[in-house]
Amino acid sequence: MSGVSQNADRRPAAPRTADPRRVGLVTGAGSGIGRAAALRFARDGAAVAVLDIDAGTAAETAELIRQDGGEALAVTVDIADEHSVRTAVERTVAVYGGLDFAVNNAGLASHHRRLDRMTLAEFERVVHVNLAGTFLCMKYELPLLTGGGAIVNIASNGGLYAIGHAPAYVAAKHGVVGLTKAAAVDHAPDGVRVNAVCPGPTRTPGFETVAAGTDMVASQEAITPLGRLAAPEEAAAAAVWLCSDAASYVTGIALSVDGGRRA
Ligand SMILES: NC(=O)c1ccc[n+]([C@@H]2O[C@H](COP(=O)([O-])OP(=O)(O)OC[C@H]3O[C@@H](n4cnc5c(N)ncnc54)[C@H](O)[C@@H]3O)[C@@H](O)[C@H]2O)c1
Repeated sequence: MSGVSQNADRRPAAPRTADPRRVGLVTGAGSGIGRAAALRFARDGAAVAVLDIDAGTAAETAELIRQDGGEALAVTVDIADEHSVRTAVERTVAVYGGLDFAVNNAGLASHHRRLDRMTLAEFERVVHVNLAGTFLCMKYELPLLTGGGAIVNIASNGGLYAIGHAPAYVAAKHGVVGLTKAAAVDHAPDGVRVNAVCPGPTRTPGFETVAAGTDMVASQEAITPLGRLAAPEEAAAAAVWLCSDAASYVTGIALSVDGGRRA
């Protein structure tokens, strides 16, 4: 199998003998970047737990994987809820016997407004889902990962610099990048790598909803050196690479996938 981290020496013995595949989970895998990542991992031979708050879209992704000849398990989760996250990770391990990599991708776009017009409740919701949600996923994933294990958190270009009228989202995604670096340093002695991917505007269902009725696509294309927005598969490819042994010496980075915007 190519493209997925190999670390055969660390698996719990009994349950995993039944299925020798690498095991990964992807949150927010019912749509967009998460779905594209889940499909790519499965095509590369991993068993993939497809986690999403939307049971229907999670089941759809799992079905797409199975139709493609892969192995998948749909699990409903709310990443903002600790009990839900713990249960979802436990279910993944109960079915597949362990965890080799995780992509924490689920996230929430923010209200389009300046800080002085934002309520505390709006701010807290966006930060809670995007930042605390990523923290909760890592909290229950990290103890399962040993040498060769990898985590990728999907941050944003808004985790590296400001996006207009999105203060809560920008704060949360900067936090995700910080959390990624902190965990990378703390867990490097265990041989576990932790990285972030920072996509620029990417044509996912989530993005299309926000962009509908606006000039966002044209205006974003105009300021992107490559002259177009990303496909979900292009952001997902960076996460797949960071989870693979091809990235075995890469940890603690925030990788822009933004068509040259950051340059
Ligand atoms: N699309 C972009 O332009 C873009 C740019 C930068 C960063 N990102 C980030 O990429 C990630 C994926 O974005 P996308 O555009 O693919 O979004 P999307 O809206 O198409 O998909 C997000 C998925 O996450 C799920 N989700 C939402 N809240 C959840 C929760 N609390 N628990 C579990 N699942 C939940 C949704 O049901 C959905 O299936 C997000 O973290 C987003 O912030 C996206």
